[in-house]
Amino acid sequence: MSAEDDNTLHPVPARLLNTAECPEPFVKSYEQYKEMHRQSLENPNEFFGKMATEILSWSKPFTTVQHGGLLHGDTAWFLDGQLNASYNCVDRHAIANPDKIAIIYEADEPNQSENITYGELLRQVCQVAGVLRAHGIRKGDTVAIYMPMIPEAVVAILACARIGALHSVVFAGFSAEALRDRVQDAACRLILTSDQGKRGGKTVETKRIVDDALKSCPSVESVIVCQRTGADVPMTPGRDYWWNEEVIKRMTYLSPEPMNSEDPLFLLYTSGSTGTPKGVLHTTAGYLLGAAATVKYVFDYHPGDIFACMADVGWITGHSYIVYGPLTLGATTVLFESIPTYPTPARYWELIAKHKITQFYTAPTAIRALRRLGDQWVEGHDLSSLRVLGTVGEPINPEAWHWYNDKVGKGRCAIVDTYWQTETGSHIVTPLPGAIATKPGSATVPFFGIELAILDPVTGKELIGNDVTGVLAVKRSWPSLARTVYGNHQRYMETYLKPYPGYYFTGDGASRDNDGYIWIRGRVDDVINVSGHRLSTAEIESALIMHHSVAETAVIGAADDVTGQCIHAFVCLKPGVSHHSTDLSKELVVQVRKVIGPFAAPKKIYLVEDLPKTRSGKLMRRILRKIVADESDSLGDISTLADPSVVEALIAKVANA
Ligand code: WT7
Repeated sequence: MSAEDDNTLHPVPARLLNTAECPEPFVKSYEQYKEMHRQSLENPNEFFGKMATEILSWSKPFTTVQHGGLLHGDTAWFLDGQLNASYNCVDRHAIANPDKIAIIYEADEPNQSENITYGELLRQVCQVAGVLRAHGIRKGDTVAIYMPMIPEAVVAILACARIGALHSVVFAGFSAEALRDRVQDAACRLILTSDQGKRGGKTVETKRIVDDALKSCPSVESVIVCQRTGADVPMTPGRDYWWNEEVIKRMTYLSPEPMNSEDPLFLLYTSGSTGTPKGVLHTTAGYLLGAAATVKYVFDYHPGDIFACMADVGWITGHSYIVYGPLTLGATTVLFESIPTYPTPARYWELIAKHKITQFYTAPTAIRALRRLGDQWVEGHDLSSLRVLGTVGEPINPEAWHWYNDKVGKGRCAIVDTYWQTETGSHIVTPLPGAIATKPGSATVPFFGIELAILDPVTGKELIGNDVTGVLAVKRSWPSLARTVYGNHQRYMETYLKPYPGYYFTGDGASRDNDGYIWIRGRVDDVINVSGHRLSTAEIESALIMHHSVAETAVIGAADDVTGQCIHAFVCLKPGVSHHSTDLSKELVVQVRKVIGPFAAPKKIYLVEDLPKTRSGKLMRRILRKIVADESDSLGDISTLADPSVVEALIAKVANA
């Protein structure tokens, strides 16, 4: 527990437990949660075996619930079982309830929303699966998806799953170079994309970015281009095909490929502490179960609910909580193409009122930004349909939590601060709406099957009991844990499983307070979290160093009121380079936007003579972090610096910036 933590317990709102007002929660008390959590650890075979049979449909039942584990990196769940993710997300609901709405597409312009039923979704998924097959894609191939937030993006994902092709969705905010690296790493054979994108009234040149990326991606044989705006975009004959023209040639039913539980479902690239992004690989059954079970328990999803996750499908949050989790349960899921402030900062609240949303999931950065713009935007909208409000991506500060709870939830909704990662596949520390009293800023308690440990970072010893702080780890495997890093199992082992043998290492610091509640303290590695987007210092540094004037750089995360963290870059120029500092700073920002994407742009760039390094040449980012945080009076031990005098110059530089 830290002195700054808000230790007030907020009980479960009475309304949620009143069955005259709300559906009865799946977990109704702390005791019931405790008991279920205990069972999930003491008897995982029975607990998860039952859950997997209830939540998923199998074409061949599994015989063994789990095998392997963290020590050897050979986690496997639901062995011998066969199923298909698209069957689970689409067919079974289309058969039972073809007219139920699967996707509410809320387009960038508010008056252009569209509903897609399960019946229609099945036809579209089958047709696109047929297109993939016609272009030679087979089970085990990898397909890239670089698309805006349109229903076809969801269709593309499910079409891959239907034929057993791995999808690798690349967030459409990534640059051509970032897209190229990801396409090359997985040797993708086909890309699904669109002519353009629309976001916040602006047009994004999606297809042009793909064309740029593909200049050096020899593995790509076909590009399927969906029309979002109808713009006239260049098409390369023999490689590029219009989506519409391709799908009409295909049958509206194509049977799903039976997949083994442990067959890969998708790759998703994420940043780690070293330079190149990792293709995190998730497999079919365990991932699907994790995504669906958390929609059920963490969002307390009941039939008839309207589920809305504001993330982009290009991130894991979109994969698990726009696509796989809600659709596995046969829910209606909202696909939001715009931004919270377009056309006005009332967009979210209009969206909730218009579609009678019951679960609403967004990031603290969005809440902070909206809170700043004033209460008038949220007032006067009918938000009475809401039951559960979720947050994800970074710790939520108490001010933002209270605003979300009071102004949006009107004190009558559960707030679930869900902690998880691309690698965990689904929530691992989180409250349950009807069972767990919350504390603003705490992700509270472990989900079913998660055996948490807080470790002493140096000795690796488990810190037992309450009131401890260390690094957060998990002591045994769970169904939706990523199984490997694409093409590099050694890197998987080294990043997650070898740092503390027998544990999965999250990379986050955490405390367990006097009530046993978990508080996430942020990354302990060189990963920066900007608006819930994960970036590595090394990745940004290597983008900067590609600029011809740059000799050396050091990138750090600094605190930011809206985005949580923001990027500050210290740059040393090559000797003899003359420059105009504002122009050069602009060029460097452009450089990062080009190599990674706009969301990775540094907020501040300091052109400096020297960086703080140890005698052995190791960069001491800690010192830069302290200087930027205005904590130069507590720099700690600087005696290992090769030249302690650089510190004074850096302090002066930052103060005058
Ligand atoms: C990192 C994972 C998982 C979806 C979004 C990000 C941070 C995530 C929380 C939370 C505090 C959080 C962690 C984690 N994080 N959720 N509720 N409270 N921190 O996925 O890009 O894989 O990033 O996001 O630092 O390690 P990701």
